[in-house]
Amino acid sequence: MTQLPVPTTAIIVVAAGSGSRLNAGAPKALVGIDSRSVLRHALDGVFAARTMQVVVVAPAGFEGVVESELLEAAGERSALGTIVTGGETRQSSVAAGLAALWGDVDTVLVHDAARALTPPAQIDAVADAVTAEAGAIPALAVVDTLKQVEGDTVVSAVDRSLLAAAQTPQGFPRRSLEAAYARAGETGEEHTDDAALFASAGGRVRRIPGSERAFKITTPDDLERARLLLGDAHATASRQSAGSPSAPSAAALPRIGIGTDAHAYGGEGNLWLAGLEWPGEQPLSGHSDGDAVAHAIVDALLGAAGLGDIGEHFGTAHPEYAGAHADVFLARTAQMLAAAGFAIGNVSVQFQGNRPRFSARRQEAEAALSAALGGAPVSVAATTTDGLGFAGRGEGIAVTAVALVFDAGRTPPSA
Ligand code: CTP
Ligand code: MG
Repeated sequence: MTQLPVPTTAIIVVAAGSGSRLNAGAPKALVGIDSRSVLRHALDGVFAARTMQVVVVAPAGFEGVVESELLEAAGERSALGTIVTGGETRQSSVAAGLAALWGDVDTVLVHDAARALTPPAQIDAVADAVTAEAGAIPALAVVDTLKQVEGDTVVSAVDRSLLAAAQTPQGFPRRSLEAAYARAGETGEEHTDDAALFASAGGRVRRIPGSERAFKITTPDDLERARLLLGDAHATASRQSAGSPSAPSAAALPRIGIGTDAHAYGGEGNLWLAGLEWPGEQPLSGHSDGDAVAHAIVDALLGAAGLGDIGEHFGTAHPEYAGAHADVFLARTAQMLAAAGFAIGNVSVQFQGNRPRFSARRQEAEAALSAALGGAPVSVAATTTDGLGFAGRGEGIAVTAVALVFDAGRTPPSA
């Protein structure tokens, strides 16, 4: 059997933070940017760089999800991956990663999963710049005019030519970084990044150019920025496929999509259906609130835009959507379509079921669903099935939705 050479470079991807400033209801690394999580994007970048040992530092309790993300990103190179559990602070998470390095590794990079869109070339450039004597970090020139302040008083100007904004990955000779971490462990020092920790132990660090795309996703605005950057790429790809020679005028036409969903009655609490709560009605079971009308609409919209399906974007791999109601799913779907360059024409949906009796709340449901989609018209119809099938036997409901979307750069086709 041929043995692959053991890599002498490793990258520790720290993903164990809670993301308190993002506040998305799940660890930041597991939050979806588009159909892929922050961590998955970061790992896609890592596996597009040179062959390295990849140590992912997972939030405690989420090692299983992290492992599936790693396996998917790694493909045939999954043997390069190792998962360890992180600590309370970033520094302790890096220390946990250091303990998992293979014997042959002499250069180690430390990378924030939160810098999800870091170009693979930046990872390679850092690895190239590390020497036996010195570490290397990517940093961007500071473009804003800076002030030193006390409270709301401006004290003095700061010479920005003396400053640079540090990014990751940060690369170091392995033994020196390990020694610096051991020293920090003894003194109890906490540093904000690895370069500071390394320098405080007497290490030298060189700077190489950083990249705007390597920004750190910290706040909801940063997540939106990442979505816009990826949305532009998706929109370009979908325009290119729409404009391929086999479909020369496809972009000029609206696009249609279909979605179906079925849920059994079951579980606790009230029914949620068509964006409304129905006190006293038997609920539907399912991940999230079981609102089959909303789920069918999401599939119809994603299908029309060619953006995949509900399982991919909102499934069990996205714990932040557990228990979410229609407004969250629909608003996020509308956002994804907008980012990909699509506007919603209209949505028509029908459910088959004996309960609830729908007609009295039709307008209310249509208004709620339409509002969640940013105002696109939604019509909802309901029917029984004359006692036939699972809907007729009262076991659950079945829903069909169709949606029309069009290129947001064009006016909607008039009737
Ligand atoms: N990190 C980690 N372990 C910690 C804290 C942070 O592995 N105990 C990782 C994060 O997952 C992230 C990187 O370090 O990839 C940079 O940290 P930051 O952006 O501050 O992430 P969080 O600490 O998760 O966010 P916040 O500070 O808003 O809670
Ligand atoms: Mg933090």
